[in-house]
Amino acid sequence: MGGIGILPSKPEKYHYQPYNNINNNNILRIRSSKFTLCSSIFVFLAFIIFFFILSPSTSSLPTKNSWGGPEWEKRVTKSTRHNSPSGSPLTVLVTGASGFVGMHVSLALKRRGDGVLGIDNFNRYYDINLKRTRAKVLSRAGVFVVEGDINDVHLLRKLFDVVAFTHVMHLAAQAGVRYAMRNPNSYVHSNIAGFVNLLEVSKSANPQPAIVYASSSSVYGLNSKTPFSEKDRTDQPASLYAATKKAGEEFAHTYNHIYGLSVTGLRFFTVYGPWGRPDMAVYLFTKDILKGKQITVFESPDGGSVTRDFTYIGDIVKGCLGALDTAKKSTGSGGKKKGNAQYRIFNLGNTSPVPVSELVNILEKLLKVNVKRKVVPMPINGDVRFTHANISRAQRELGYMPTTDLEAGLKKFVRWYLDFHSPLKNKNVW
Ligand SMILES: NC(=O)c1ccc[n+]([C@@H]2O[C@H](COP(=O)([O-])OP(=O)(O)OC[C@H]3O[C@@H](n4cnc5c(N)ncnc54)[C@H](O)[C@@H]3O)[C@@H](O)[C@H]2O)c1
Repeated sequence: MGGIGILPSKPEKYHYQPYNNINNNNILRIRSSKFTLCSSIFVFLAFIIFFFILSPSTSSLPTKNSWGGPEWEKRVTKSTRHNSPSGSPLTVLVTGASGFVGMHVSLALKRRGDGVLGIDNFNRYYDINLKRTRAKVLSRAGVFVVEGDINDVHLLRKLFDVVAFTHVMHLAAQAGVRYAMRNPNSYVHSNIAGFVNLLEVSKSANPQPAIVYASSSSVYGLNSKTPFSEKDRTDQPASLYAATKKAGEEFAHTYNHIYGLSVTGLRFFTVYGPWGRPDMAVYLFTKDILKGKQITVFESPDGGSVTRDFTYIGDIVKGCLGALDTAKKSTGSGGKKKGNAQYRIFNLGNTSPVPVSELVNILEKLLKVNVKRKVVPMPINGDVRFTHANISRAQRELGYMPTTDLEAGLKKFVRWYLDFHSPLKNKNVW
């Protein structure tokens, strides 16, 4: 998918064909004025320089893709070898493995003896060194992260040729609600086109894997009934990010219905913890508080507090493993459905919403810094006022039970943050 509108989602897919749609009269007019031609060339060059070199909209594009060859295949195979004395180990392709959730889930699977292969395009949406360091941690644990994009159909087919994956844990996405206003095409590229590509390759694989994929609490959008239940409406997204995550759920349903793919969607609620994302509140607040900067805390237009159902990464990992372990096999083969396949969707939250102002209070205590704060009305940027998960379905069917409260989880985050950013730390130890 080359992207919508005039902005490219990937540079190599953007073919500029300036003369195709210009009729003869226009050509004559252009020829009659050298000045117009020169200025057109100038504008065109300025456009190219802005969008391909200077524009932040290209900052999340993949850097390079390098894969293939016997050595590479050996690493792929080795990474997916099982090391489980009992039970029936899984063979899992984890997309977005160098991301926050992806790293933790991959490590947990590997530690219990499953075969795990990661894929990640290492885009520059946030600090790429953090992603590279996570990949190093994974490599040391025996998990190879292939550098590539889930839109690369040849790469995905190759991976399925080399390895008979039993499961796909799909976490790759363009995340973040606010960035969607700056670079909508990166969301369409990863969350829609990339997901459809992954489903296409999975449905044609033999055997078909079971798919567990990350959705988001953001799909509840303007829903005001709390706590959010999987039965509530999800057709009022408040951000483009939410719209693409909801679209992902619909595509997953379609592939389940037509091709017999077993699919499970997990709606994560504001995940935080060690190795967390630098674009999220917990990380940003910690960074600014330590620098002595003023913290901006949003309140809702009616003066009420903005609250989030902050969920600790360790609990989310347990939910992901629960979903993988209870996923039934897909029923299709050779791209054809042989019977109805499992279709599920679960909230994974903490079911204990906390005002963002309280989050700042806890960080203030843990960091031992007096926080300067400014309370301002929440701008209309796609963020919602509150989230709160009803998790009874996940409790019942996945055995999911979050056990880490915000203070305990933040303690672990702060310890990791200070260690990771310590100037004394030799980065090679990660
Ligand atoms: N962290 C949260 O609070 C939260 C909440 C709700 C939903 N989610 C969802 O959970 C999943 C994981 O989120 P995260 O917080 O770990 O985000 P993350 O950005 O840390 O991880 C996503 C990873 O996917 C990779 N990626 C993006 N597009 C790709 C592509 N086209 N091909 C290959 N790799 C690609 C990125 O480089 C990144 O490493 C995402 O699907 C996200 O939408 C996260």
